[in-house]
Amino acid sequence: MCGIFGYTGKKEAMDILTNGLAQLEYRGYDSAGICMVNDDHNLYIIKAVGRVMELKNKTNWIKLTWYTTGIGHTRWATHGSVTENNCHPHTSSDARFAVVHNGIIENHSELKMILEDQGYVFYSETDTEVVVKLFEYLFNGDNLRALRKLTSVIEWAYALVFIDREKPSMLFGAKLGSPLVIGKNKENAWYVSSDYKSLIGLVDEYITLEDGDIFCIENGECKIINRWVEFIRDKEHIIETEQIMELWDFPHFMLKEIYEQGQVLRNVFAGRIDFKTKTINNITLNEVVTQGFERVHIIASGTSYHAGCLGRQYLENLANLPTEVSVSTEFKYGTQFIDKKTLYIFVSQSGETADSLESMKVVKEKWGYTFGIINVPGSSIARLAHAWLFTHAGTEVWVASSKAFTAQIATFLILALAFGQKRNLENTKFISILTDMEKLPARIEKLLQTSDQIRLIAEKYAPYLNFFYLGRSYELPIAMEGSLKLKELTYRHSEAYSSGELKHGPLALIDANFPSIIVNGSWPLYSKNLSSVQEIKSRGGKVIGVIADNDVNKNLYDDFLIFESSLRETEVFSETVILQLFAYHMADVLGRDIDKPRNLAKSVTVE
Ligand code: M6R
Repeated sequence: MCGIFGYTGKKEAMDILTNGLAQLEYRGYDSAGICMVNDDHNLYIIKAVGRVMELKNKTNWIKLTWYTTGIGHTRWATHGSVTENNCHPHTSSDARFAVVHNGIIENHSELKMILEDQGYVFYSETDTEVVVKLFEYLFNGDNLRALRKLTSVIEWAYALVFIDREKPSMLFGAKLGSPLVIGKNKENAWYVSSDYKSLIGLVDEYITLEDGDIFCIENGECKIINRWVEFIRDKEHIIETEQIMELWDFPHFMLKEIYEQGQVLRNVFAGRIDFKTKTINNITLNEVVTQGFERVHIIASGTSYHAGCLGRQYLENLANLPTEVSVSTEFKYGTQFIDKKTLYIFVSQSGETADSLESMKVVKEKWGYTFGIINVPGSSIARLAHAWLFTHAGTEVWVASSKAFTAQIATFLILALAFGQKRNLENTKFISILTDMEKLPARIEKLLQTSDQIRLIAEKYAPYLNFFYLGRSYELPIAMEGSLKLKELTYRHSEAYSSGELKHGPLALIDANFPSIIVNGSWPLYSKNLSSVQEIKSRGGKVIGVIADNDVNKNLYDDFLIFESSLRETEVFSETVILQLFAYHMADVLGRDIDKPRNLAKSVTVE
């Protein structure tokens, strides 16, 4: 979702900005633009619909000098269609100020009417143009004063970065709701970005802005007002040197991330499980399981919600903890019953999803105990939660989630086992699950070697337009996640159902052109699932089974994808990987833009 990149220093800004925007491409966008200012007080704007590459192509023939300050933006359309007119940066009427914005200004319509009454004319359909014109209206010679007035009028969410033609070494802006980081290097060049990862290799230190912060960088100095503290005293992090953007030999980042999952599991287990002594030991886990919670409420969206659905199964079955799961998009707008005996778990890869973040604020306002399962240290959800567990999946760069899901469900399994130990989980069961978990990373790595076989089945089914994804109990969330992967990557229609629900209506859709994928490992509802397979087959439907290697009913299926049988708690990991590869290969066969699916954003920072 929209990305912001800003620079002020001694180098020409144009390539720095386009390269910075390229680092933010993973967030999802549909157009991009940059605006730079030079010492002669000229603004130079370049915009393009489509990829950052198209913006770069436009810049290739442009030679600029002394444009050493600038702002850039990747836009994911919310207000107004995907056109260059609507693309950021947007400028004031006198073209003195330019701004980039991430978020949504909810009261922009009222503000626009007021400005129109004052004679302002608008060239775009965006809420962002309202922001820069309002700034112009409020400006009386002092940029920061005008910014403070502006932020007291506009209704969030926003991350805003401005430049001023009359102050060519100044970057200034504000943050409320949407993420923004500021970094600096030893050459005293300053960068502003939506994501600290885009600053790797460029800066030596960075600070994550807090909600309500207003900043101003000018002549090599940065001041963050609101709290009136100097940046230098506030510096938080030494930037990591991890290299995240290398494809190595993989054709897509998505495939690379799928292949990382064995190692991801090792990372999730490390420091939490001692496989030698068969114990779980971790300070955060110890603290959370000893607080006497009687219930759990899991809140998340998308893939993270699916992880929460499996988390619920683990917590109820292994820890005997009644658990509810809500999509965060609905939670905030329902009636919330918050109590002290419930543990509120927020699951988020990015830690920035606005729906989840806002839901968390509601729970905190009502004195609920919030716990994050998150993949990005320093993210908004991590900072707001009372306590958290990191999922250690490493940076998940591209849009469709894969390894983050695996890390989330592994974290839930550990959490449920830790609670289970305190709440009468049989020790033999505890030990048998831990024993099997130790084998899981190697098992996943072995399964990944069957990728070519999965591709053959994906090729065969690529012409079909509709799919059911079916499963029950532990396997229903796996079917839901598999179905989401197919939608995101292939743009094929798919629906996930409990296989038991099929006969209550959806069965009417079954015919020879509507295949079903059923996730049916070797556990309690195996026979019930077989009945569903029979129901589909007798209506002429095709069925692909995601089944264990010891399944004696393989011949029932039109096609099957096989994994090594293990425990109910761990088979779900293998099933997940199979469905990820199935969606990936089908998308590749169909020639889709796998790493950047259309219309989607990695980090959804608007409600
Ligand atoms: O960063 P989060 O986990 O909070 O994101 C929630 C969803 O937007 C996300 O899981 C989305 O569904 C995935 N990109 C799907 O692959």
